[in-house]
Amino acid sequence: MSEKVKLEYNGKIYEFPVIVGTEGEKAIDIRELREKTGFITYDPGLANTGVCKSSITYVNGEKGILRYRGYPIEELAEKSTFVETAYLLLNGELPTKEELKAFSDKLNDHSLVHEDMREFFQNFPRRAHPMGILSSMVTALREFYPELKEGGEEELNTTLARLLSKVRTMAAMAYKISRGHKVIYPRHDLSYCANFLNMMFDSPVKPYVIDDDIVKGLNIFWILHADHEQNCSTAAVRLVGSAKVNIYAAISAGISALWGPLHGGANQAVIEMLKEIYENGGDPKPFIERAKDKNDPFRLMGFGHRIYKTHDPREKIMKKLCHKILDKLKIKDPLLDIARKLEEMALNDPYFQEKKLYPNVDFYSGIFLRAIGIPENMFTVMFAIGRLPGWLAQWKESMEDPDGKLYRPRQVYVGPSKREYIPIEEREKSTATEST
Ligand code: CMC
Repeated sequence: MSEKVKLEYNGKIYEFPVIVGTEGEKAIDIRELREKTGFITYDPGLANTGVCKSSITYVNGEKGILRYRGYPIEELAEKSTFVETAYLLLNGELPTKEELKAFSDKLNDHSLVHEDMREFFQNFPRRAHPMGILSSMVTALREFYPELKEGGEEELNTTLARLLSKVRTMAAMAYKISRGHKVIYPRHDLSYCANFLNMMFDSPVKPYVIDDDIVKGLNIFWILHADHEQNCSTAAVRLVGSAKVNIYAAISAGISALWGPLHGGANQAVIEMLKEIYENGGDPKPFIERAKDKNDPFRLMGFGHRIYKTHDPREKIMKKLCHKILDKLKIKDPLLDIARKLEEMALNDPYFQEKKLYPNVDFYSGIFLRAIGIPENMFTVMFAIGRLPGWLAQWKESMEDPDGKLYRPRQVYVGPSKREYIPIEEREKSTATEST
């Protein structure tokens, strides 16, 4: 018999079933709470609320564990490729050789972007942020490619491949156009990651030489970002998707949510912070002090996480990758030294220790991206390309979920009670809104 939790109120006992996940995590099923008791729950930021059951990604924030479909992130980063990991997230199992080839071929088949879309790219202001361009362009894809209608598997797989492949092409296109350079088309003979690097950096005057270590590094970077259960952008994809909008609009919502500096935008914010420290003499101490000051809104970017109360397992891999790539490219980046100093100081500071604030995935990722030539305003776009398989897998799961419903949270209303309308002539000056 399944476990129950009892709630006692006014001498009456209400029972609610307990749901247990495969890793032992327990949740109280409160679906009947309001109906039975009249209560709702109050949980700002949904920090204690499970909004779905999911079999995609497991995170244990106390132990620093991250697994996709049961496979530890460390093993995937070492042995898998981004395309294989994307297949795993979308389909639940690692592919056979044939399945992987068919999947890669499909990505290649859908890598081109409609030529008319180039007009859009060209008409964004030169200084437009690539995240804004990307979210607009993903919404616009719906007007160029068929919307999912029948729900057939083949049609679904094609749409997922279309998004995975085209978002990467569009990201590189946005970069080239922003620089006023010739757009480089995708090539069928290159792997997913090599293709992206080539589209970003090849030029008619200087052909890009593909470096296997950089390609491997980019695979690792994107594998680390591929999914992270119900994070802010994924929750946005599920929430917007729950209204049954088209898939492009749901993914575009995820891109917009990711842009925020508390989420994916942190990778750009970290580099900006490290640069500021560098320009101010290289001592992180004043920044640590600012982060601790309750009266200063400044936070140490790349530090802290809603779930991880220990080292983020992705950060450990990212840090190693940074060192490897910088060594390989013989780059001496002073920001890496500052980052290491800052990390050490923060980890030894009682404020960060007590609050269990550790470096997260974004702390070192910008240094890696800088080293391979990605400009700062493209950092969050890089995160978005990586997170895409996760968003798509989570969207697909939510569409197939028998418990799935329109997201529509409740609130505790704390505004004025009913009052009578006051004609404008009778309003006190202090309460009246002056018309302009
Ligand atoms: N620097 C200084 N203090 C911090 C930081 C930080 N980076 N992060 C949290 N705190 C403090 C915060 O002030 C609060 O203190 P108090 O209890 O005294 O009010 C306490 O720690 C708890 O913070 P919170 O904001 O309630 O915790 P949260 O779970 O809502 O926040 C977070 C998680 C990631 C938004 C936050 O740690 C943060 O703002 N970090 C910096 C931005 C960042 O690196 N974001 C990337 C997250 S990982 C990748 C991703 O999700 O995209």
